Amino acid sequence: MSSDRLIIFDTTLRDGEQSPGASMTKDEKVRIARALERMAVDVIEAGFPIASTGDFESVQAVARAVKDSTVCGLARALDRDIDRAGEALKDAASARIHTFIATSPIHMKMKLRMEPDQVVEQAVKAVKQARKYTDNVEFSPEDAGRSELDFLCRVLEAVIDAGATTVNIPDTVGYNLPHQFGDLIRQLIERVPNSDKAVFSVHCHNDLGLAVANSLSSVLNGARQVECTINGLGERAGNASLEEVVMAVRTRRDIFSCDTRLDTTQIVPASRLVAGITGFAVQPNKAIVGANAFAHESGIHQDGVLKSRETYEIMRAQDVGWSDNRIVLGKHSGRNALRSRLEELGISFDSEEALNEAFTRFKALADKKHEIFDEDLQALVTEASLDAVNEHYKLVSLRVCSETGETPNADVTLNIDGKERSASAPGGGPVDAAFKAIEAIVDSGTCLQLYSVNNITSGTDSQGEVTVRLEKAGHIVNGQGADTDIVIASARAYINALNKLVKPQGREHPQLGDV
Ligand code: KIV
Ligand code: ZN
Repeated sequence: MSSDRLIIFDTTLRDGEQSPGASMTKDEKVRIARALERMAVDVIEAGFPIASTGDFESVQAVARAVKDSTVCGLARALDRDIDRAGEALKDAASARIHTFIATSPIHMKMKLRMEPDQVVEQAVKAVKQARKYTDNVEFSPEDAGRSELDFLCRVLEAVIDAGATTVNIPDTVGYNLPHQFGDLIRQLIERVPNSDKAVFSVHCHNDLGLAVANSLSSVLNGARQVECTINGLGERAGNASLEEVVMAVRTRRDIFSCDTRLDTTQIVPASRLVAGITGFAVQPNKAIVGANAFAHESGIHQDGVLKSRETYEIMRAQDVGWSDNRIVLGKHSGRNALRSRLEELGISFDSEEALNEAFTRFKALADKKHEIFDEDLQALVTEASLDAVNEHYKLVSLRVCSETGETPNADVTLNIDGKERSASAPGGGPVDAAFKAIEAIVDSGTCLQLYSVNNITSGTDSQGEVTVRLEKAGHIVNGQGADTDIVIASARAYINALNKLVKPQGREHPQLGDV
């Protein structure tokens, strides 16, 4: 089924969330899903519904929120998994069930303890079960990259016969090299007798840093769906990065005979959103979305770009969503100006109250910071969304004293379920003192795993965007906060993380189950 359309299947919310520490709440997943929908991603894998109640509810919420992309749920090749996925996706405008079972000798023998015949039988049964819920069914032979070719052909033929409309070939452990993986896809398409009845997809992991190269090589050999994640997030070294795959195919139209339907100007905002929510910062030299991706340091390069951009740039920064740091609004801008700029950024409000609330925050920010950029508006909306989470602990006040030759000290007052409590604490620095004062009140028993600060725009009056990762009894959460005062932003991020820990939820890992 070769076509000139390359389907983009984003798995940031599922495989991406399998990065240790990259946990996301239901609301955060819906926000990311909306950003992916705005980008016109074809399929959004929203989670693994059997894994936990939280996963189920997230898939259900994404299925209800998204209208223009297909929403997919993952399921092992087990009836109970598939039924749960079917239930979670019930309200989706367009739903897909993605079922998988391992096919490599090592996985079948050591993990599944099943004979190859049993694996084929179970795969077929799973696809038939999934077809009871939707006619859009994807099947993956897990660890295909280390499976035997003849056996893979046999499994794929059987599942396509059973009704699989997409067959996805995962290089689960990132073992393959580009020429080899491309060749595997070509041979599968040639040898599976009913290959024309399904879309061939690839899902590459980045253990050798080859996930994007392997995906592109597969596209050159007939794959018409690529599974990928924003910023290359994912299990271990991650998955193929969406932005790199999409921009490689678009930039090298001379080589690829297909293209995606994506609005690439949404790439940088989506990358920022995912980095902020997960706390996985983007390295400055990361292709497409890194801060230096379009920066020219050397004089020769700068001179060349000024004379003609194409001398050193193969893509336009605006085409992937880098804004030119235009001042968009200021102190005197009104409510309508704010609404229309947010709408241009793809952000709309469910009610007039929500807009009023955003406007109040905007005015407060404009008092502290005279020039408001798109990035500030995006952070402001993120901050507003945190209020819904910050129900249990609320920051009432924070006072920090930091002076040369003196130990910094923080005084904090929190509102805990309606009751105010205060504490003071010294610390190694102002942020440390603030966290210690919060802990003196809540005694959370958590362990701080990550603390990171990024400036949202340039200049010393820029807002600092802080991520705090806390762990308690194996449960990991990421908290966020933004403010022109980074100590306040830090305290907010810490309190946001504490609020997320109030209702912990366990989950099962999709590749560790009994099948
Ligand atoms: O890496 C993998 O094999 C997977 C499957 C569930 C597709 O994530
Ligand atoms: Zn994977």
